[in-house]
Amino acid sequence: MKPTHVLFVGATGSVGRYAVHEGLAQGYRVRALVRNASRVCFGPNAEVREGDLTNVDDMRHALNGIDGIVFTMGANGGPTLNEAVDYGAVKNALDALGGRPARIALMTAIGLAADMDTEYNRSTQAHDWKRRSERLVRASGNEYTIVRPGWFDMEGLDDHRIRFQQDQRRVYTGPGDGSISRRQIAQTLVAALGCEAANRKTFNLVDEPGQAQSDAELIALFAALEPDPHGAPFDGYDDPANFPPCAQPKRVREELTRIAHQHTERTTS
Ligand SMILES: NC(=O)c1ccc[n+]([C@@H]2O[C@H](COP(=O)([O-])OP(=O)(O)OC[C@H]3O[C@@H](n4cnc5c(N)ncnc54)[C@H](OP(=O)(O)O)[C@@H]3O)[C@@H](O)[C@H]2O)c1
Repeated sequence: MKPTHVLFVGATGSVGRYAVHEGLAQGYRVRALVRNASRVCFGPNAEVREGDLTNVDDMRHALNGIDGIVFTMGANGGPTLNEAVDYGAVKNALDALGGRPARIALMTAIGLAADMDTEYNRSTQAHDWKRRSERLVRASGNEYTIVRPGWFDMEGLDDHRIRFQQDQRRVYTGPGDGSISRRQIAQTLVAALGCEAANRKTFNLVDEPGQAQSDAELIALFAALEPDPHGAPFDGYDDPANFPPCAQPKRVREELTRIAHQHTERTTS
């Protein structure tokens, strides 16, 4: 399903701002969810809705009349903030939708599934919460694309060509292993919304030497990707089995069950 009215969550962020402009450029009716409307200026064609992504009622209000969502938020914090923002935004949106369908494009991070046992993830749980947010999206039964970008704006001077990668067991140690421009992350997220071939795909996103592709040229890249497997544990294609569902916090297991149940109820009623 190609959406018409798209909510941008994390719209004030370093990628979110590009995503809002990309949404307008690709012809969508755009609504930006922001905490402080006086701090943003997206131009007259974007609707700005004040609210906090950590609040499910604000999310419900923001999602009224919306059939597509682009998530680019991120707390860049410790475990509590990462749960509230990186995971919480997705959980609250899916709860607010209550089973109503929406096309989703979610940004997480490169090497997410392979880099679980690192000092960075042990101290911040950033990958844990992003991976749980991905699982919620897959369990929701919505059409979706999950983009795991490399390091932002650290690509080489000649690196303009977008590459999608699905070697999810590879450990990425720094920008030299994979970087991508913020503008192209936004381009990819928004292009995925209207592309049937992008549905149920999870991939790393990097730049390599060469010319940038148009939106139309991305369709072939989406089509060449393997789709995610169906069903539990709701991981992406080629994700290692290093994050067992039974080892997740009780509330996370309950939330995943609730979101998956909403989908089952919708499809059987
Ligand atoms: N930097 C990299 O190279 C890289 C690579 C791959 C993935 N990532 C991931 O990308 C994500 C986004 O990074 P970024 O640099 O674009 O972040 P950013 O510029 O700080 O943007 C974060 C967005 O999330 C919102 N947000 C943050 N905390 C919030 C809170 N407590 N409540 C409500 N909204 C909140 C911000 O809203 P406000 O404007 O209202 O604060 C903003 O819209 C991060 O999770 C990061 O891990 C980064």
